[in-house]
Amino acid sequence: MDYKVADLSLADFGRREIRLAEHEMPGLMAVREEYSAAKPLRGAKIMGSLHMTIQTAVLIETLVELGADVRWVSCNIFSTQDHAAAAIVVGKDGTAEDPKGVPVFAWKGETLEEYWWCTDQALQWPDGSGPNMILDDGGDATLLVHKGAEYEKAGAVPQATEDDPEEWGIILDTLRRTIAEKPGRWTETAAAIKGVTEETTTGVHRLYEMAKAGTLAFPAINVNDSVTKSKFDNKYGCRHSVIDGLNRATDVLIGGKVAVVCGYGDVGKGCAEALKGQGARVVVTEIDPICALQAAMDGFQVTTLDDIVDKADIFVTTTGNFNIIRADHMARMKHQAIVSNIGHFDNEIDMAGLARIDGIEKIEIKPQVHEWRFPDGHSIIVLAEGRLMNLGCATGHPSFVMSNSFTNQVIAQIELFTKTEEYPVGVYVLPKHLDEKVARLHLDALGVKLTTLTKEQAAYIGVHVEGPYKPDHYRY
Ligand code: NAI
Repeated sequence: MDYKVADLSLADFGRREIRLAEHEMPGLMAVREEYSAAKPLRGAKIMGSLHMTIQTAVLIETLVELGADVRWVSCNIFSTQDHAAAAIVVGKDGTAEDPKGVPVFAWKGETLEEYWWCTDQALQWPDGSGPNMILDDGGDATLLVHKGAEYEKAGAVPQATEDDPEEWGIILDTLRRTIAEKPGRWTETAAAIKGVTEETTTGVHRLYEMAKAGTLAFPAINVNDSVTKSKFDNKYGCRHSVIDGLNRATDVLIGGKVAVVCGYGDVGKGCAEALKGQGARVVVTEIDPICALQAAMDGFQVTTLDDIVDKADIFVTTTGNFNIIRADHMARMKHQAIVSNIGHFDNEIDMAGLARIDGIEKIEIKPQVHEWRFPDGHSIIVLAEGRLMNLGCATGHPSFVMSNSFTNQVIAQIELFTKTEEYPVGVYVLPKHLDEKVARLHLDALGVKLTTLTKEQAAYIGVHVEGPYKPDHYRY
């Protein structure tokens, strides 16, 4: 078996945590029970690009239990939990000397070159073929396949320009190398893929852009916009893990501090609530009047970053947009202000601009925690080099909330793989009855007693007793 992880001797530790996580992931375990005999994913060759954590390990083993042949990478250079990666490679029946699990190419602290090498490795099976399904988080695997096929068609991979981010040049180099090794590979891979299921807001955004431009090569299910994903993982998941990231990185007291949350979407709402719960005075920035009004009515001061930047102690960007905190903002911050991002990509904070400041000094406090000292002597503390701090500095969302997200992922994989002809190229969300099913699978574990509609009540509000209970336009 080919694989590349940090240390297989961590597998026992990983296995012990996977065992605990399974109990906290009732949705995934129920799906295993429902489908393990039928094996609806038999014949599926799934390439997964999603943070290689303990929770993801339970997802991977669920896909395998349902019949899939899986290869995996992390979708971020800092988010891998090395013990989880080791346990998945070793597998339930293997040993470090004789691993029998799933090929994983991921370790905490990859370079960007290594990251794209890993993505490429997971996109090719030992027999030279590619996947027929992608499970993506942020769209990097989908991007590599699409760009590869596009440049093969064009006959050349372009050169990066000076204005391009460093990572784009690495992606282009990866494509140039792989196309030289095997011309036509990406066109073949794109044609063989039945579909992709996408985990997050930012990846979904990319998919809709491609669909609009007519460049999307295969159907996609937008898992993020299942209600049981974005209204739970993005909100309650971040409500948990934003504090975890801050604590493990700095252990600074949050109570009484001024914390700025940029963006008041699902992630921003979770972060603001968590910081408020710790006693911080939370200030929100927004560009959308609806979200700004929500923040105000939830009791938060809403202002611009320029207005608050020199008065706050903690910053968290949650926008999925770029250039939110610029270098000139960071130069104006208080001494030892903490700057962090929990959005998918690292361009929310202008790290390149920060590094370009004349005379600035970067001091590593510990991995993923850096003090940047300005020439005037004051400094700021940047978490996870501007990458998502909850996975870079802590362990991401806890199992129970990820069970909701990943149950949607498994159902979406089954949908696209088994009903391919029902999904012409386009971007889809799962039907509401499946969304409600995912929620239902998580009620017992919390001791929730659900009220059952009477037939008369159901008729009165115009739904079936067994659901769905809301029209598609309902917003929760
Ligand atoms: P969203 O679209 O619900 O929220 C983003 C908000 O930012 C919107 O309300 C938007 O109006 C606002 N915004 C955009 N530009 C802004 C600007 N210049 N200044 C202030 N506000 C601005 O998206 P969601 O679901 O909250 O996701 C946000 C990001 O977090 C995405 O990149 C997503 O992929 C990522 N994410 C990260 C997770 C993690 O564990 N770290 C979990 C889930 C999502």
